[in-house]
Amino acid sequence: MRFYPLEKLINLHDDYARRFKIDHLQLLLIQRDGERYLIEAQCPHRGHPLDLATLEAGVIQCTLHHYRFRIADGRLLHATEEPCRGLRSFELVYEGNELGVMLEES
Ligand code: FES
Repeated sequence: MRFYPLEKLINLHDDYARRFKIDHLQLLLIQRDGERYLIEAQCPHRGHPLDLATLEAGVIQCTLHHYRFRIADGRLLHATEEPCRGLRSFELVYEGNELGVMLEES
């Protein structure tokens, strides 16, 4: 496992959203109501970007077909068409004045 730094803590604020590409992974770091989340950047349903998704009370809703996922465990809560897999999320790791993620080295 290796630490991949993503962002300096000083740059984070509510409504922050930024994509990161690490090898084949597209990740989205977001902060809402003081909570920070690192999730896959595309919706598990049909791959719509989640940058503009709404996020309330720990539930993220894709803007395309309005599927909803619980951030804490990625569970699909609401589907308007066929079900899909859950949303992948990643544990954030704090190191000094940065935050990042631990991933397997490729
Ligand atoms: S692509 Fe996100 S809900 Fe369909």
